[in-house]
Amino acid sequence: MTIKIEPLDAPMGAVIHGLDSRKPLTDDDFRAVEQAMLEHIAIVIPDLEENVPWLRDFGSRFGPLVPHILNQYHHPDGFEVSIIAKNMGTAESRTTPKPAGAFWHSDLSYEVNPSDAIFLYSTHLPSKGGDTIVANMRAAYATLPEKTKQRLDGLTCTHRFGWNTQGATPPLTPEQQAAHPDVIHPVVRPHPKTGVPILYVNPGYSMRINELEQAESDDLLAELFEHSLKPEFQYRHKWTLNSLVGVDNRSSMHCAVDDYTEPRRMLRMIVGCTDGRKGQVAA
Ligand code: SIN
Repeated sequence: MTIKIEPLDAPMGAVIHGLDSRKPLTDDDFRAVEQAMLEHIAIVIPDLEENVPWLRDFGSRFGPLVPHILNQYHHPDGFEVSIIAKNMGTAESRTTPKPAGAFWHSDLSYEVNPSDAIFLYSTHLPSKGGDTIVANMRAAYATLPEKTKQRLDGLTCTHRFGWNTQGATPPLTPEQQAAHPDVIHPVVRPHPKTGVPILYVNPGYSMRINELEQAESDDLLAELFEHSLKPEFQYRHKWTLNSLVGVDNRSSMHCAVDDYTEPRRMLRMIVGCTDGRKGQVAA
């Protein structure tokens, strides 16, 4: 094994040293990176030369890469990679008032098969700002009062793309909309690899707790979001150029900070669901 894992001084996260995007990823290194993500939730791999085929191969070691719902932003070298860009002065830049991902979410929670992980690779960065914040939903669940944990037992939530994305997602085309009906997931899901229970709701896509009246559902979701978004559960990633960040979507949610006007561009890969636990399409 050639890599070294250095846990961050934060509520989650680790830096991985020793990977080289000019060389194939060995099985031993892959297993170590996968284990680090399970344990630390967020991983940071600095100083990787831009190499789209390598990034695609790296991402697909974790599971099938899922083409993003906004197919207008797929990378010309492969639909498994999306470009998320703002202020670049090119057609690939988002035209939404807010940049992509500038709301709290766990990727693909609006899909029957949600995402295991996301990888983001920085190609252009503003001189200030443009951080990404990750919230640890494993710790959020673990620290809920026992009474709340009991109340959540057996509850389910409906998720929808664009539900509360605050100007960071464009409207869907009729075809995109038809392919993405509302979906139901349990409010608490055990992590498929570790069995640890995780709070699986997010402000961007989670609409309604199905077993409760609307007002009760609104109140409970607000309480869960307020709890999960406490600073003690967060890691704020300050980007450096040509670095790769991976986040376990099953154990966290994340948000791009909308506080810059200079160009910012990321290559994004979303790893699909590898454990076969499906949500349900809402009636
Ligand atoms: C995303 O959530 O898809 C993007 C996050 C970021 O750009 O920081």
